[in-house]
Amino acid sequence: MRTGHKIIHLESVDSTNNYAATLISEGKADHGTVIMADDQFAGRGQRGAEWRVKPGQNLTFSLILFPDNLSVSEHFVLSQVTALALHDLLRKFGISAHVKWPNDIVVDERKIAGVLIENQLRGSRISSSIIGVGINVNQTEFGTLQATSMKNNVGSFISINDLLFSFIAAFDHFWEIWLKSGKGDIESLYEARLLGKDEMRHFEDEIGAFEGVVLGVSEEGKLRILKKEKECLYDLKEVRFIFRSEP
Ligand code: BTN
Repeated sequence: MRTGHKIIHLESVDSTNNYAATLISEGKADHGTVIMADDQFAGRGQRGAEWRVKPGQNLTFSLILFPDNLSVSEHFVLSQVTALALHDLLRKFGISAHVKWPNDIVVDERKIAGVLIENQLRGSRISSSIIGVGINVNQTEFGTLQATSMKNNVGSFISINDLLFSFIAAFDHFWEIWLKSGKGDIESLYEARLLGKDEMRHFEDEIGAFEGVVLGVSEEGKLRILKKEKECLYDLKEVRFIFRSEP
């Protein structure tokens, strides 16, 4: 079923993910409802971080899904489809991005989009999912953050509303691939866009810094890295990429 048929456009909200969660809990959300905000005063990022961007200059939204029969063990497909949609969207603007596992989108090692997915479970099924997305669009200054924007890459102003519709079309496209062909196709498309795939890069895990090669992801979405000729599996927070710009 298509998404984006209902778009709630807010001037200001604490977090579009919070707003989406309230709609779901009150039984007022449909599959595919999108909540977008010009300004979020308490935007949330991954791992308890804040997501703070300049009001009116960026695309900030949450997409509500009521996935048909998606099991908890398949949750990673939501990250994969979202990352693929973002990657595709940027490619259409001539921006060559990578997916930094699990679902950050980076250009030249600078973050251009972030994703916060929050699932509601019923038993072993995902009853609803909130896909929160922030894309840096027309903001050009990011202070000390390792971030960039679409405008910084294409040189001109981009319509935020048009971009939302392009994202929705891209998301529906990859979701359809998943529904029709299952996870194999989505997985190979996702892995081909991963930062560090088949190339030697610097990482850090609990033991320390090391060089390794990203091989792909496991069934449950863990990152597979070849380290000292051995395949290692990493969960969130267990490994980080060391970027060239770091001292
Ligand atoms: C991250 O990279 O840390 C994730 C950032 C996710 C930000 C988006 S903006 C819309 C939605 N509402 C939120 O509060 N967070 C997500």
